[in-house]
Amino acid sequence: MKKLVLASLLLALSSSVTFADTIKVGVVGPFSGPAALQGKNFQAGINAWLAVNGNTIGDDTIEIVYRDLPAPDPAQSAALTQELIVSEGVQYLAGYYYTPDAMAAAPILEEGNVPMVVFNAATSAIVNASPYVVRTSFTTWQTSTPMAAVARQRGIDKVITVVSDYGPGVDSEAAFVAGFTGAGGEIVESVRMPMNTNDFSPMMQRIKDSGAEAVFAFLPAGPATLGFVQAYVENGLKDAGVTLLAPGDLTQEPDLAALGDNALGLLTTFHYAVSHDSPENSAFVEAASKAIGSASELSFPAVGAYDGMYVISKMIEATGGNQDAAAAVEAVKGLSWVSPRGPVSINPENRHLTQNIYLREVALEDGQYINKEIQTFENQGDPGWKAP
Ligand code: PHB
Repeated sequence: MKKLVLASLLLALSSSVTFADTIKVGVVGPFSGPAALQGKNFQAGINAWLAVNGNTIGDDTIEIVYRDLPAPDPAQSAALTQELIVSEGVQYLAGYYYTPDAMAAAPILEEGNVPMVVFNAATSAIVNASPYVVRTSFTTWQTSTPMAAVARQRGIDKVITVVSDYGPGVDSEAAFVAGFTGAGGEIVESVRMPMNTNDFSPMMQRIKDSGAEAVFAFLPAGPATLGFVQAYVENGLKDAGVTLLAPGDLTQEPDLAALGDNALGLLTTFHYAVSHDSPENSAFVEAASKAIGSASELSFPAVGAYDGMYVISKMIEATGGNQDAAAAVEAVKGLSWVSPRGPVSINPENRHLTQNIYLREVALEDGQYINKEIQTFENQGDPGWKAP
């Protein structure tokens, strides 16, 4: 009897209800530890996008599954990625703050039939690690190249480069050196620091001793970038007139209040400033500030995540919610839209964003330290990408 009731109940259900699918998106990022603010910005970007657009695409509902990766750890990144695909059944992967973590996850995608939308990791070669990688952040080649032109325009002849010794640092150094020497500048020294360096005083002495007029620097945004800029100020380089040139990772907005007036005038080149003046960015900043709890915590990983969610929504739309990584990636090649950062498009050749890069100067406006955009390098591709 019980069986009969159950059977007729199931029959009634299946004939009257169309079952909507839940599409899981696995997001790997630093949600705890020293870089937790960067992960919090991934979440803010995701939640802002869901608040503005809702969590359904057609009949399907998006569910986000987070996995915490506090520090760069390729083995753990691969393990979490595998677990998300196999145990959680995620249909999309996203996030990945650090390059080594994105690199370690990429080889798993094809077998898992899962596209990966990189929200941050910025080494040019990541897109070559799998045809299923799409990136909505930037590359350090892309953000560093215009700084070389800016340095020459401002009459700087001699530069020392100082970068973190891993993918995005090596790329950043290569981009700046190529642009700067190509325009007639001289590199007096190039230094690569171990990633775990947190005492920058000896480096500041080396910069002073090098006789360079400027230091070009890249470190991954987090506590080390704030420490580096503080050491630059505290060791008297700013007062001595040694110009600091960097991509915008070094002056992310949440760090500016701690630097105070010492940050004023710092020049950086980057794809996104929280103060970017556009209706799209005003709407984004409002939603993302609500999501993160305080506008003063907003930083660039939020925009990578927000645009990444848009790309994933387009993939879900194009595949009707079916799991087909190749079709999903194909559908977003050439996609263009107006991001909070400005106009962007996905280069169909390398699945990376073409976008504006802005020269910014730290300024104080209405009691807030901002990265004020003062010059635009339009429609920049990734000069560091080489066809595999
Ligand atoms: C990276 O590891 O690719 C990375 C991390 C933080 C940044 C930039 C690049 O600010």
